[in-house]
Amino acid sequence: MGPVLSNEIFVAYLLNKRMNSMAHKILEGKRGIIFGALNDQSIAWKAAELCHQAGASIVLSNAPIALRMGEINKLAEACNNAPVIGADVTNMDDLKNLFEKSMEHFGGKIDFILHSVGMSMNIRKGNTYTGLNHEFQHKTLDISAMSLHRVCQTAYELDAMNDWGSIVALTYIAAQRVFPDYNEMADAKALLESIARSFGYHFGVRNKVRINTVSQSPTRTTAGSGVKGFDGFINYAEKMSPLGNASAEDCAAYCVSLFSDYTRMVTMQNLFHDGGFSFTGVTPAVIERMED
Ligand SMILES: NC(=O)c1ccc[n+]([C@@H]2O[C@H](COP(=O)([O-])OP(=O)(O)OC[C@H]3O[C@@H](n4cnc5c(N)ncnc54)[C@H](O)[C@@H]3O)[C@@H](O)[C@H]2O)c1
Repeated sequence: MGPVLSNEIFVAYLLNKRMNSMAHKILEGKRGIIFGALNDQSIAWKAAELCHQAGASIVLSNAPIALRMGEINKLAEACNNAPVIGADVTNMDDLKNLFEKSMEHFGGKIDFILHSVGMSMNIRKGNTYTGLNHEFQHKTLDISAMSLHRVCQTAYELDAMNDWGSIVALTYIAAQRVFPDYNEMADAKALLESIARSFGYHFGVRNKVRINTVSQSPTRTTAGSGVKGFDGFINYAEKMSPLGNASAEDCAAYCVSLFSDYTRMVTMQNLFHDGGFSFTGVTPAVIERMED
């Protein structure tokens, strides 16, 4: 005869079942800062929603000029009234204020950071790669790449990160291969990825904090759509990826996993999140189009 379940065992079974159904709350008790939610298309917007759903407490940040649009307040409300603190990522005083206020709000240190920031004046003005305005280029590198160093350095100097914390920045495969219309952003992404590795070493040694970049598929957002020929670009990537393009929601889910304790030994990596695009040579769908 099989064992009879006692009341206690039955209750324990039910509790366990309930815990399993809540297993997606993998950020329960964690606190993070999310940079770059401009509107509901933004990857950072989806990431904020998902981090909140996964149990995290968050602070939202964007450039003061972006906050004036007011969109972010809707997101803040949906994320348990998360504080919104303006910071231009090229301004060290803004960043110091952001980290200090965030720690005050959380009543302690920070577990994760999403750097989802990029901007190119040369792309906005339609300047070609061979005809860059170098003042703009400085600005692009500062906003889109050096800002990761600024964020990490601020957190490092303020000792703001909990041990085993996680920092993620978003990047694109143009850092490794030429996509001509991605223009100077390719150089910015190469620098961004290098900073993730270099700072990842130092933060890892001191605090076990990990730093990675996620190399995302082309995604329809304000920044993404600014790239010349974006429609062709995104369709080509779709046809070249065995799984298709990764959406902003998919990217958000990957970020949540990287903020969780399930990935605590992953650091200094550039992680392709692109449906297989980066390792595909050619596909029948693309060949078909060439034969037209
Ligand atoms: N959309 C894509 O196709 C794609 C693909 C790969 C990687 N990425 C990267 O994802 C990240 C997020 O971009 P997105 O596509 O969600 O577009 P987005 O336009 O929604 O986000 C870019 C954000 O950068 C912020 N920003 C610009 N200048 C700033 C400054 N000085 N200080 C603080 N914030 C500033 C903007 O306000 C905006 O919120 C970027 O790093 C982008 O390069 C995007």
